[in-house]
Amino acid sequence: MTAAVDGALLPPGPSEPCDFDRLEDRLGCMRRLFEDWGDVVRVRSPQRGADTWVISRPDLVKRILVSNHRNYTKGAGIERVRVLLGNGIMTSEGELWRRQRRMIQPAFQRGAIEGFLRLMTDAALAAADQWRAHAASGRSLNLSRQVSLSTLDVVLRALFGDDLERLCDAAGANPFELVSEDRARDLQFAVKFRALGSRVMELVERRRREDRHPPDLLGLLMQARDRGDGRPMPDRLLVDEVLTLVVAGHETTAAALTWTWYLLARHPQWLRRIRAEAQALRPERGIGLDDLRPLAATGQVIREALRLYPPGWLYTRRAVAADRLGEYGVPPGTDLFLCVWLLHRHPDYWDDPGAFRPERFADGGEAARQRYAWIPFSAGPRHCVGEGFALAEMSIQVALLARDFDVELPPGEAEPGLEADVNLRPDRDIHLRVRHA
Ligand code: HEM
Repeated sequence: MTAAVDGALLPPGPSEPCDFDRLEDRLGCMRRLFEDWGDVVRVRSPQRGADTWVISRPDLVKRILVSNHRNYTKGAGIERVRVLLGNGIMTSEGELWRRQRRMIQPAFQRGAIEGFLRLMTDAALAAADQWRAHAASGRSLNLSRQVSLSTLDVVLRALFGDDLERLCDAAGANPFELVSEDRARDLQFAVKFRALGSRVMELVERRRREDRHPPDLLGLLMQARDRGDGRPMPDRLLVDEVLTLVVAGHETTAAALTWTWYLLARHPQWLRRIRAEAQALRPERGIGLDDLRPLAATGQVIREALRLYPPGWLYTRRAVAADRLGEYGVPPGTDLFLCVWLLHRHPDYWDDPGAFRPERFADGGEAARQRYAWIPFSAGPRHCVGEGFALAEMSIQVALLARDFDVELPPGEAEPGLEADVNLRPDRDIHLRVRHA
């Protein structure tokens, strides 16, 4: 090892350089680095002009995301995200980020989420109608497609309420559906997606003309005022934030729900446990957050799915100034890849890490041992603002569908591969056979 900052060590790593941007299989490469070198690996990246450290150690994750977070900005790949999302809360830094976060966060607090449970429940009941039709016909269900459309519907209705219909064209087509139809997240997609910003702006202007303030997310963002200077967010940022919430709220939740159902199809005993506890739900009367809390098996299954298949499988950060990370000294400019996939399967922190064992998340279970070994929603000030929203949506979907249906993978269906791009998704659509329970 080489001496670095203040005589501290540099992590071990291979002597040959590596350009992660050009790698086809970044996840496989990080897995091999972990096996060969351990949970903090230094990789020389000459094209970046600084080293990249691949990190999957909870104490260092805590230092980077929480205790010394001010020393770390978002890192590699953020320029690409900025092309898609503009300068909203996901990509901004410093005072601008803090201001936007303060204004957006109230829209995701408990009381606000309660207001979205009805539309989440309606989306789950609509999904149940589709599943019923498939059960009756015996045709297998394209789970990936159904989940993608359903989660898109939830986030769009939460954002635009009854105005969603007004955003559709004369033929009733929803322009935001391209988010679900188009799997690519390249420049072409970014151009098409950014064009939707003008539709959002038209809606904002119409609401202002009509002096309407519905309690949907758009309404809450339009009403938000900075607690320091009392000013609203500028229109350009308002549009960026809306587009950010569409992307951040849709693809992650869709991936997580798809993996959850895939795992339930392989572990029907857990489906039956969820079914038993879901009998207490009365969707026709409305579901509240207090009704979700007792659903222990549902919560454990969702958390275990997020451990095994975290949609955000890699968080990138860049060191602003030198810092001490455990026994290592990180020089300024170093790229840090916090590999959530490896962290969630680290054998020092998880027993039999590849096994599906939701009971890990029972009260006092092994998941409680090391707080920063499970971070599907990140941690610290930049953790996911939509965590409560996503968990409520997923719990309602899973519980209401498990109540009425058995699921299995079609015979001969091969295990899906992993597509580790912005999010971790199955590399092809997952199909299910559904039957009435
Ligand atoms: C299972 C579903 C979800 C997962 C796994 C997830 C995961 C994450 C993660 C890991 C981050 C931090 C990324 C980083 O620091 O590099 C994040 C940030 C964020 N998420 Fe989520 N998310 C989910 C659902 C949602 C939903 C439903 C919304 C909103 C409707 C949302 C909105 C956001 C926003 C706005 C940020 C940026 C926060 C900031 O930088 O201050 N997410 N999410």
